[in-house]
Amino acid sequence: MGKKLLIRNAAQIVTPEGNSARFGKEMGKLKQYEDASILIEDGKIAAVGKDPSWGREVPEEDQIDASGKAVLPGFVDSHTHLVFGGYRPDEFLWRMGGMSYMDIMNRGGGIVNTMKATREASEEELAAHAMDHLKNMLAMGVTTVEAKSGYGQDYDTEMKQLRVTRTLNASQPVELVSTFLGAHAVPPEYAGRGDDFIEFLLHKVMPDVAKQHLAEFCDVFCEKDVFSVEQSRHLLTEARKMGFKLKIHADEIVSLGGSELAGELHATSADHLLHASDAGIRAMAENKVVSTLLPTTAFCLREPFARAREMIDAGCAVALATDFNPGSGFTFSVPLMIGLAVIYMHMSAEEAITALTLNGAAAVDRADRIGTIEPGKQADIVILHYPSYKFLPYHTGINIVEKVIKKGELVVG
Ligand code: NIG
Ligand code: FE
Repeated sequence: MGKKLLIRNAAQIVTPEGNSARFGKEMGKLKQYEDASILIEDGKIAAVGKDPSWGREVPEEDQIDASGKAVLPGFVDSHTHLVFGGYRPDEFLWRMGGMSYMDIMNRGGGIVNTMKATREASEEELAAHAMDHLKNMLAMGVTTVEAKSGYGQDYDTEMKQLRVTRTLNASQPVELVSTFLGAHAVPPEYAGRGDDFIEFLLHKVMPDVAKQHLAEFCDVFCEKDVFSVEQSRHLLTEARKMGFKLKIHADEIVSLGGSELAGELHATSADHLLHASDAGIRAMAENKVVSTLLPTTAFCLREPFARAREMIDAGCAVALATDFNPGSGFTFSVPLMIGLAVIYMHMSAEEAITALTLNGAAAVDRADRIGTIEPGKQADIVILHYPSYKFLPYHTGINIVEKVIKKGELVVG
């Protein structure tokens, strides 16, 4: 018989349902149980329900009393730039003083600044910093994190970043999903030669990334003055032939057509979308692309938020993620993100939960394994300090996660 854990007498268990992203109105529908329990066996959810006849055999020391607490699926942060060298506090304050993100980038700051520090850092240094951040993310209920490369932009450093992600995945509880984002900026060596840089990635770097199974997704910063829609289409089309699943940084600074491209390519997700057009929104909804919104980035850039309400009303599947990175948003605060989503982006609390669990899981192509509390799913679970999920937006900006369970093991609390 396998190892069992019983979470009993939860004031509330609340979860979206299903094995795929929830679109439009479906995002607001959550299954709720009161005074209910969850039986976990061998790291998976075996049963969920009220007054169970099951679970009585579980020894006292393997039971968690959740009376007075709300229980939810573990949170999925489906867009981060977790592994990087150095920090950029000065740039943050320059932006607050009125300089734009693109002004700073065009003056040699921005991504290239972090690229230099990442090239210089050792694998151990990069891992130690990322490990610190992961511990804090886990404490906020995040049990799965997507992590992008893209601060190397040369062969050795891109591979180094991806190896760090792989090492970290094996050495702490948070599950990491690796994304290759070599096309994050044109590095100084290729200034004015973006096309050549893409060919370099396609022919010299990505075949080895694929061969060594160092990344599951390929992403690109499709943006004015970075990579055009045509360049992004070419990169992603070739990436798919090599076996990568697709993501795209779309319409973050200007409305360039990245969300339309995501629809055309049936990408797994399109991310940022601050300036997604109506046609882009339709393209994502019709082609079942997860629309990943990153409210803390808009907040830290002092930009208007993405049109979450309109996207959901148009039938999109919205996911929420932090975009944690040293530049445009140096935060992985899930409580802040939920507050912004509900207060400023007019998402309901229920939609925010779906966005952070099942739709986040879909954004990393894991909706069949994680993202809900249903029999058969991996037991990734958070227990809140309060009796209702409504406290997540209401206790604004405060971490109310008390316990975290990853693959059936208590890892926080
Ligand atoms: O998702 N937009 C491109 N990449 C990151 C920012 C990276 C950086 O500024 O270092 C983002 O916002
Ligand atoms: Fe990003």
